[in-house]
Amino acid sequence: MTALSILMAAAEMAPFAKAGGLGDALYSLSGALAAAGHDVRVVLPCYGAIDREAFDLRPVASLEVPMGVLGRTTVTVLQGETPRSQVGAFFIGHDPYFARRGIYGHDGDGFTDNDLRFTLLSRAALEIARHMDWRPDVIHVHDWHTAAIPVLLNTLYRDDAVLSATASALTIHNMLHQGVFDKSLMDVLGIGWGHFHSRELEFFDKVNLLKAGMVHATLINTVSPTYAREILHPPFAYGIEGVVQDRAADLSGILNGADYDEWNPEADPMIAAGYSASDLSGKILCKKDLQRTLGLPEKTSVPLFGLVSRLVKQKGIDLLAEVLPRILELDVQFVILGAGEPWSHVFFEELARARPEKFVCRIGFEPAMAHRIIAGSDFFVMPSRFEPCGLTQMYGMRYGTLPVVHATGGLDDTVENFNETTMEGTGFKFYAPTAGALYDTIGWATHTYYHNGKAIRTLMRRAMSKRFTWEEAARKYEDLYRIAARRKTTATL
Ligand code: ADP
Ligand code: GLC
Repeated sequence: MTALSILMAAAEMAPFAKAGGLGDALYSLSGALAAAGHDVRVVLPCYGAIDREAFDLRPVASLEVPMGVLGRTTVTVLQGETPRSQVGAFFIGHDPYFARRGIYGHDGDGFTDNDLRFTLLSRAALEIARHMDWRPDVIHVHDWHTAAIPVLLNTLYRDDAVLSATASALTIHNMLHQGVFDKSLMDVLGIGWGHFHSRELEFFDKVNLLKAGMVHATLINTVSPTYAREILHPPFAYGIEGVVQDRAADLSGILNGADYDEWNPEADPMIAAGYSASDLSGKILCKKDLQRTLGLPEKTSVPLFGLVSRLVKQKGIDLLAEVLPRILELDVQFVILGAGEPWSHVFFEELARARPEKFVCRIGFEPAMAHRIIAGSDFFVMPSRFEPCGLTQMYGMRYGTLPVVHATGGLDDTVENFNETTMEGTGFKFYAPTAGALYDTIGWATHTYYHNGKAIRTLMRRAMSKRFTWEEAARKYEDLYRIAARRKTTATL
């Protein structure tokens, strides 16, 4: 098979910029595709927080990017390489938009000019390809931030000498965030008001960029098979289920992978001791180390529940808040690491002050602590109301930290429920997104921990042997790109 030329454009890519799993996914997917022999280039904003010296980012071009009524905007293109793979990474430097602190916003509020920031990114990604005279077979865009690209390809770049034959693929990592903005954005996109109607960009008299991308992309996918089915219906589609249904034939679900180079308990420099399924003694040391660091009693016989997450409604944080005081009546310990909705910081910090012997809450984004919690806990809690894929449950499984999850999206696809009769399973699942179901399931896991140690050890070994690889995901994306490219060629003939 011939190698493909793939241009990706996104708001995040680890290790340069990451707010959640999108950054992990971009890094791993682009790396796996490059390792398979494809020419992969990624376009990202040059955020102020990116350390230009550490990553050796070098200016390679200056471009004039058309921004409709705003006129031409000058950007500097910087080039770097991702640390572990041969992916070309291009950064759009435009200080008035990107030099500030934060990726999407600050202190929980989105920046008010996110429409312009990400329209510039989208438009610049196309201009970079033209500047390099590089004809990608496909442009792979992610979430609303770059969803304008399929629209621009089908309109302003339809007859472009470089990009007219390029197909587009849109991956939906999260349907909640759609990029809905004032309709004045139409004049910046510059595609003409003829596209401002309910079957294209318009959504309640505003512009909806995700919807627009879904209408225009050659193919669409989400990050798990179950989520691909869920978004056909409300409430999962947040008002654009009609568009999802219209494009159902072009929609698929491709499960994310986990990065087992970074998440490997046998060789993780961030944890107190290495361990494997055949020798779990290191995991006990990790648990003690975690308890000591957090100031919890060093009791290895007490089950320790961990949660590492954005603290937002999607993640079912409100459900947890409702029952955590009751959970802490059980003989358990609990640790939360995360940041998000301000009410949750106040609530969990107060509770931690009231129950210091059982509960610790760390507000913040701390990658090393995430590793230590995932290694040192016995259970990993994810009560997500919806979860397009979810990566941390996969990390938890690799570390023998059994997931306790709501059976939705990628959580349902990756975690097998404990079956007490057959002793099969890799975690504990509940099927209704309610505080009561969460409480019962944590109770079930606790009871199993105290009364059926053999089952826990069996589940741990099974969970540790599971692999969700990016190589497999990359093969599926490759198929998707080839279908999209073929379809585009047929359409333009
Ligand atoms: P989402 O993208 O919806 O936030 P995922 O499970 O796909 O959820 O990915 C979350 C990623 O962000 C994981 O790599 C996880 O370890 C990381 N993460 C989330 N919150 C924190 C935090 N407070 N500190 C460190 N890492 C975090
Ligand atoms: C989103 C989703 C998460 C998914 C991640 C990477 O942030 O919330 O479920 O794992 O994207 O695809």
